[in-house]
Amino acid sequence: MSSNKVLDEQRQGEATMLDTIEKGAKKLYLESYGCQMNFSDSEIVASILSERGYATTRNAEEADLVLLNTCSIRDNAEQKVRNRLTHFNAAKRKKPDLMIGVLGCMAERLKSKLLEEEKLVDIVVGPDAYRDLPALIEEVSDGRKAVNVLLSREETYADISPVRLNSNGVTAFISIMRGCDNMCSFCVVPFTRGRERSRDPESIVHEARYLHQEGYREVTLLGQNVDSYRWNVSKKGDVIDPDKEVVNFAGLLEKVAQVAPDLRVRFSTSHPKDMTDEVLQTMARYENICKYIHLPVQSGNTDVLKRMNRGYSREWYLQRIDAIRRYMPDCAISTDVIAGFCGETDDEHADTLSLMEEVQYEFAYMFKYSERPKTLAERKYQDDVAEELKQRRLSEIIELQNKSSLRRNKAALGKTFEVLVEGLSKKSDEKLYGRNSQNAVMVFDRGDIEIGSYVMVKAVDCTSATLIGEVISKK
Ligand code: SAH
Ligand code: SF4
Ligand code: F3S
Repeated sequence: MSSNKVLDEQRQGEATMLDTIEKGAKKLYLESYGCQMNFSDSEIVASILSERGYATTRNAEEADLVLLNTCSIRDNAEQKVRNRLTHFNAAKRKKPDLMIGVLGCMAERLKSKLLEEEKLVDIVVGPDAYRDLPALIEEVSDGRKAVNVLLSREETYADISPVRLNSNGVTAFISIMRGCDNMCSFCVVPFTRGRERSRDPESIVHEARYLHQEGYREVTLLGQNVDSYRWNVSKKGDVIDPDKEVVNFAGLLEKVAQVAPDLRVRFSTSHPKDMTDEVLQTMARYENICKYIHLPVQSGNTDVLKRMNRGYSREWYLQRIDAIRRYMPDCAISTDVIAGFCGETDDEHADTLSLMEEVQYEFAYMFKYSERPKTLAERKYQDDVAEELKQRRLSEIIELQNKSSLRRNKAALGKTFEVLVEGLSKKSDEKLYGRNSQNAVMVFDRGDIEIGSYVMVKAVDCTSATLIGEVISKK
């Protein structure tokens, strides 16, 4: 399986264990769920705990500490974690010293409920409180339960150098901001991650440079809404310190692109209401900024978008797609779609299908609407689309997207792409996989090609998910 595929599955809420850090007396078993930011946070947690003598293990049975970094985005994401907690609690009955902790968005959402009502865990730590983990573990060792779910306006963990755990040594994530100030009515993230704040650009560039020196060849800049990245400028646009540089997302992207021509740069997630032409122009100017944009649409109907509080209309979104195509005719575009949001009619659903037909996305993450406690939608609207109808609409969306992905891949046949080699193909040790700039996964013969190198690969065959390639030349 390609790492791209792994990521796709991670985003659907699959768990991934981290690779091991070997030294250390005590053993930490860490499982992560949810979005890329959570996986990135787990690398910060591992870093904080490695300094306190914790080595990570892939074997939960030998662990002294089990931590689940959790996601609350949809109800099924939380259910998965509850099942895992039940499982680890059974193990704890045989090994009473075992500590079990919940980190991340579910910790923030449920706070001490997980300790008091459900008695499933010893430690509950929200996304802005990871520096406090060693102290909380101490408290548990002294026989107490420990909670810290304080959200912060400042914390970006900028000075902590993440331990690259589940790594292929080629691609890495860099968090550039935390939190989200949008209030999409369906979304729990503003409640679990707190206010939006951007990380010091210098520390971001420094991390990119360090990764490049270590042999990494691709970085993905992460944020819930990367287009609202801003440094040294207030939300209203006032400069904070006149002696210092003001940096917006386009500026940051450029700085990271200049680290090295052979370091690819990706980013996620763009927001249609905030994505500027300046960002698109910067992307077009630098060959090493990958020609791929994830631009979640959620719905193709303006009234639904209004109920979702997304801040743009169907027309605005399509105009953004036109702008992408104008600056970068070869840019791939993917999206997120929600089926069956509150009050969605057949006609409104049909607008989502027609928009997808029009854009012809390379890829999409597609979900059934899941009502989340405390969100605007929960307070204001009825979750009134019947489960069966949601499922039917989702199936139609998925079917349409599969056709679109296949059509996109077929259009790539015969073309040659520069591919960054990421690793051995899951299916065969004789094959390698990597991605082209457009984020399409390509599989090709191994020969004597090294992982982490660039090769020119011609697409000769495809499925809807993968391009089968022939190596034309090494770079
Ligand atoms: N910050 C990103 C999205 C983060 S959440 C953005 O604004 O685009 C990832 C995706 O999960 C969202 O794009 C949305 O499609 C989906 N999602 C979020 N809340 C959901 C809910 N309550 N039910 C179903 N899907 C949801
Ligand atoms: Fe949620 Fe909207 Fe923020 Fe994305 S932009 S994290 S969907 S509130
Ligand atoms: Fe899930 Fe939290 Fe990410 S809710 S999607 S882990 S920000």
